[in-house]
Amino acid sequence: MSVEVPAGLRELLQAFALEALRRQPADVLDFALQYFADLRDARGEVREPGAAKAVSFAQETLSANSEDDEDDEEFAAPIVNRFVRRASVCAEAFNPDDEEEDKEPRITCPKTDEQRQRLQEACKDILLFKNLDLEQMSQVLDAMFEKFVEAGEHIIDQGDDGDNFYVIESGTYNIFVKMDGVERSVGSYDNRGSFGELALMYNTPRAATIVATSAGALWCLDRLTFRRIIVKNNSNKRKMYEAFIETLPLLKLLEPSERMKVVDVLSSKVYRDGEQIISQGDTADCFYIVESGLVRITMKRGESKKGLENGEVDIAQCSRGQYFGELALVTSKPRAASAYAVDNVKCLVMDIQAFERLLGPCMDIMKRNIAHYEEQLRTLFGSQSETEDENA
Ligand code: CMP
Repeated sequence: MSVEVPAGLRELLQAFALEALRRQPADVLDFALQYFADLRDARGEVREPGAAKAVSFAQETLSANSEDDEDDEEFAAPIVNRFVRRASVCAEAFNPDDEEEDKEPRITCPKTDEQRQRLQEACKDILLFKNLDLEQMSQVLDAMFEKFVEAGEHIIDQGDDGDNFYVIESGTYNIFVKMDGVERSVGSYDNRGSFGELALMYNTPRAATIVATSAGALWCLDRLTFRRIIVKNNSNKRKMYEAFIETLPLLKLLEPSERMKVVDVLSSKVYRDGEQIISQGDTADCFYIVESGLVRITMKRGESKKGLENGEVDIAQCSRGQYFGELALVTSKPRAASAYAVDNVKCLVMDIQAFERLLGPCMDIMKRNIAHYEEQLRTLFGSQSETEDENA
């Protein structure tokens, strides 16, 4: 006997099963009732184009799929869950000014107060979020959802299409990049940071594989919300910083398109007069370019330098267009000096992963500075510098 499977039934049940597995509801029946009721409501909303209403979890699934199904007159059942990889996004044109994306229903993933607090904490240092206004930030937080991972789990596989951007709440993760058929570990994340932005920003396949090396928790931002808010925001940022970035000698080796990628990952930070920007001995995770104001670089030289104010000596100053904080990133050592704002200072800040990924071609220029720093220290302190001692 042959039984015809109604169109969309398989996908509908698959999406539901995945959602239930992910959320582990205490009462599956209640969960199912809520899930399908939400789905039915969402179908009503989607039939009203442009309705920007908050949607709950079943609707998120729908909207993640709806851009793929723009030609469908009706919302027929095939639902692709966020966790099912997208068919192909790479053919989509990158157009941050495309107003169409604004018309998609806004995604809201309900959270407990405790979850929201943890989410805010995890997101507070994410550079890509730093330039968002309050409304944009609140839309981003509303849309994010939690995912627990096991050691050994592949969060992202190089070459796949991009589904989510990830913010780490906990856990350790390895980064692997395959080049010429050989996969190499190129870095790791340790209980902080974010990844998965490249494929969403540039509509390219995933550039690296990310594997959890411990159990952990991630906050995920769906591709649609990422593009609607972060990518759009970046296009404004590009307009703002284009001219400044072009004047920076450090970046002159980069292609114009590479320079724009640098702008995309920079965030702007303001420091008050006297505020400490970096502290000698700290672990380094950022690199800075001075946008305005003056930055004092100071160094402590141990017990022998008693009598100096706080034991610190001024060793350099950085003004507009100059950069600092790269040495520790280049040498993978703790901060060799401290930096303080003189008057009000505005800096562009780039995190270590973006630094390694994007500024590879500029590394030689930065390495040349190491010799210069050592010369400077010899002049100031006379004896062999600590940088030299450590490098010996
Ligand atoms: P995406 O390409 O979307 O997915 C893999 C992610 O790994 C990538 O975005 C970056 O966020 C992150 N990543 C970290 N280090 C690297 C690297 N060296 N090359 C490429 N991607 C990297």
